[in-house]
Amino acid sequence: MDYKVADLSLADFGRREIRLAEHEMPGLMAVRAEYAEAKPLRGAKIMGSLHMTIQTAVLIETLVELGADVRWVSCNIFSTQDHAAAAVVVGKDGTADALKGVPVFAWKGETLEEYWWCTDQALQWPDGTGPNMILDDGGDATLLVHKGAEYEKAGAVPTATAEDPEEWGIILDTLRRTIAEKDGRWTAAAAEIKGVTEETTTGVHRLYEMAKAGTLAFPAINVNDSVTKSKFDNKYGCRHSVIDGLNRATDVLIGGKVALVAGYGDVGKGVAEALKGQGARVIVTEIDPICALQAAMDGFQVSTLDDVVDTVDIFVTTTGNFNIIRADHMERMKHQAIVSNIGHFDNEIDMAGLAKIAGIEKIEIKPQVHEWRFPDGHSIIVLAEGRLMNLGCATGHPSFVMSNSFTNQVIAQIELFTKTEEYPVGVYVLPKHLDEKVARLHLDALGVKLTELTKEQAAYIGVHVEGPYKPDHYRY
Ligand code: NAI
Repeated sequence: MDYKVADLSLADFGRREIRLAEHEMPGLMAVRAEYAEAKPLRGAKIMGSLHMTIQTAVLIETLVELGADVRWVSCNIFSTQDHAAAAVVVGKDGTADALKGVPVFAWKGETLEEYWWCTDQALQWPDGTGPNMILDDGGDATLLVHKGAEYEKAGAVPTATAEDPEEWGIILDTLRRTIAEKDGRWTAAAAEIKGVTEETTTGVHRLYEMAKAGTLAFPAINVNDSVTKSKFDNKYGCRHSVIDGLNRATDVLIGGKVALVAGYGDVGKGVAEALKGQGARVIVTEIDPICALQAAMDGFQVSTLDDVVDTVDIFVTTTGNFNIIRADHMERMKHQAIVSNIGHFDNEIDMAGLAKIAGIEKIEIKPQVHEWRFPDGHSIIVLAEGRLMNLGCATGHPSFVMSNSFTNQVIAQIELFTKTEEYPVGVYVLPKHLDEKVARLHLDALGVKLTELTKEQAAYIGVHVEGPYKPDHYRY
C-alpha cells in the first residue's frame, strides 16, 4: 500500500481512541448497521481531504464498511493527529507488517509543498486512475481538479505574480509538474468524478462561486448547510474546541480578560458563548446588521476592531473572510495579547504583513505557539501560525458533534454516488427528512425523549406525523 504518515507505531494508541470514539458517534454507527448488507458505496473510489483526526478515522472506516475504496489527506498542514493517521493505515485487523487499512497521506506539521504533494497523491490510484467521488473540507481537492482541467484545456499553467499568496505559486507548481507527468490527467479526473460533498462554509462558498461562473465540473452536495451540520459542528463544536485550543496553547486564565470575536455567524456564536462562559468580557465585530443585532441582544458589546484593538487580551477571528486582523492592528495590541483564528483559511490574520514589519522577531515558544516581538519590545502571541487554532493547537471538535456532521457526509456520498442522474451539475443541500434523520440518530445517546405529534396536531400545523416538521425556509 502506498501511504505517508508520521509513525506507524502510533497505530495501537490511535485504535484505542477510535474504539472510544465509535461509542460517541452513534449516527455513523447506525449508518454502518443500516447499510451493512446493501453496501451502497461499492464501486465508489472516494478521495477525502478533511482533517485526519480520530473522528475522521471513524468516518473513513464507515465509508469502507459501506463498500468504498478510499484514499485520504488532511485539509490543513497542522490538523493531523498522527496516531489517527497511523491507525487508519494499519486498519482494524492489520498490523505494521500486514497493512489492511486505507492509504493516508498526512502528518502534523506538513510544509505547504508537502501538503499539495499529499493532495496530489490521494487523487491518484495505483492503477493510474483517479477518484469517482470527492469528500472535501474547504475545497482544496476540488480546486486542484478544476484548475488542473482548466489549464490543460488552456494548454498552459500560468505563473504566480508577486501579489499572489505564496501558496498559489505552490499550487501552480504542483499542476505544472503533474500535467508534465501525464497530460490530460486532470481533464480525465474531472470527467470521472460523479460529485463532491463539501464540509465547510468556506468550501461551500467556493462551490457556489464556480456554479455561478459556470465552471463547476460535477454536482456538489453542500453538507455544511444541513442544519445538523452548521448549527451544531460550527456552533457547539467551536464552543468546545476554542477553549481547548487556548488552554493547550497558552493556559492563560480567560476569566476577567477582554476577548474579541470577529464575526457572529455560526462559529462566532459558539466562540463568543464559550469565552463568556469562561468569564471573559466579550466584544464582537460584525459587518452584517442582523448578526450585529443578534450579538447585541445576546448581551455582547459590538464594536469595531479599530476602536478596541488596544484593549483586548484575546482575539479570535471566525469570519471566513480575509485581512480581518492587519499588521497595523497587531502593532497596536497589548503586550502578550493572544491572536488566533478559527476560520478555515489562515488569511483572516495578515501573517505575511506581520512578518514584513521591519525589526520584528519571531520566537517559537513551542510548536504552533509563537511570540512575535516588535522593535519597541512589546510582543503578541500568535496561535497555529494564524491557521485554525482549534485543530492546530488542540484536537478539534469532539466525536459526538462530528458524528452529526459526518453522518450527513456519508448520506450525501450515498445520494450522489447512487442517484447521480437525479443531481445535474449544481450545488444541493440534503432534503430535510435526511437532516431530521441525522438528528434523530443522536437523541437516544443523550436520553432525549421526543414528543410524538398526534394525527390531528400534524394536520393542524400542516405536516406529516413522521416529518419533515419545518418548511425549507425555517431558520432554527
Ligand atoms: P458564517 O457565514 O455563518 O459567519 C461568518 C460571519 O462573519 C458572518 O456573520 C459575516 O457577516 C461575518 N463577517 C464577514 N466579514 C467580516 C468582517 N470583515 N468583520 C467582521 N465580521 C465579518 O460562517 P461560519 O459557518 O460561522 O464559518 C466561519 C468560518 O469558520 C469559515 O471559514 C468556516 O469554513 C470555518 N469553520 C471552522 C471550523 C473549525 O473547526 N475551525 C468549524 C466550522 C466552520
